[in-house]
Amino acid sequence: MTKIRVNASKPYDVVIGKGLLSQAGSLVAEAVKGRKAVIVTDDIVNGLYAEKLIKSMTDAGFTVDIFVFPNGEESKCHKTLMELYDFLAEKNITRSDFLVALGGGVVGDLTGFAAATYLRGIDYVQIPTTLLAQVDSSVGGKTAVDIGAGKNLVGAFKQPDIVIADIDTLDTLTEEIFTDGMGEVVKYGMIWSESLFDLLKTGKVKENLEKIVEECVDIKRQVVETDEFDTGLRMILNFGHTLGHSIEKYYNYHGFSHGKAVSAGMYLITTIGEKAGLISGNISDELKACLVANNMPFESGTPAEALFSGAVNDKKRFSDTISIILCREIGKADIVKMNINDFKNMIEG
Ligand code: GLY
Repeated sequence: MTKIRVNASKPYDVVIGKGLLSQAGSLVAEAVKGRKAVIVTDDIVNGLYAEKLIKSMTDAGFTVDIFVFPNGEESKCHKTLMELYDFLAEKNITRSDFLVALGGGVVGDLTGFAAATYLRGIDYVQIPTTLLAQVDSSVGGKTAVDIGAGKNLVGAFKQPDIVIADIDTLDTLTEEIFTDGMGEVVKYGMIWSESLFDLLKTGKVKENLEKIVEECVDIKRQVVETDEFDTGLRMILNFGHTLGHSIEKYYNYHGFSHGKAVSAGMYLITTIGEKAGLISGNISDELKACLVANNMPFESGTPAEALFSGAVNDKKRFSDTISIILCREIGKADIVKMNINDFKNMIEG
């Protein structure tokens, strides 16, 4: 078991290891004051892991209720949120009680947002069960729900009290859900760590999963500690995501999953940057080799017009400028502010 301390405005540990679900009760008991909890999960994760978690928590002396909603991004909405608030009220949850997010990014983001807002804020614990949630969304305190106009448009910063990442839960992921996380893992290698990138190039990810999750969480820790509220450095975590979001949108959020879209988005922004003379050297070929070694796509077939329109509607845009993230060498990212028209010309190149 490894503990990584995140020194955010509220410090907390990310605990990473195998078999942690059955130790979750005692780990949570050390991190929160409350003794009454509501576990929030989806109907798939419920069937896989809820029983083990409930046992571990009740053995540790907690009183536990569970709120289950249908799996999928469609559930990350105000309807589920309102149902959750009603459930918390019905169970007489007070400010001394807490929530436990058991699941992937949707569960974590929705639960975190409920914790940020219910009774003006209660404690919460993240128990991420997907690769994406373990290496990215459960750490750093971004919480949100989606609205009709776009994903994550209503949210809050709310750091958890502890994150428990049980590597064993990654065994049950489908290839597609695993690839969602791999988009983020390759991103960390590109933006921060050449040694991680070199390991990923070997394609030996499953054999080194625990070490990879630890390294990604430690990178996220450093970024979040430097820029918790996303006004500077944290934007580098968006590498590949601006064009990735355009790709996802072009395919109506079906057919090109988030991880595949980020994968193609990283390659695309790198080749575009090289063509525009903003990157010297041949970073895109190295990235392509790494993506191929991990069965991830580098092309998406999205037309330039859709790439541009999706990108300029992204919430990371400010007025008539856009911040794009470029890796000019492996393991290092730069934030480049660019006029929207220059960006359009660059994409249409
Ligand atoms: N997932 C990007 C961030 O936490 O900033």
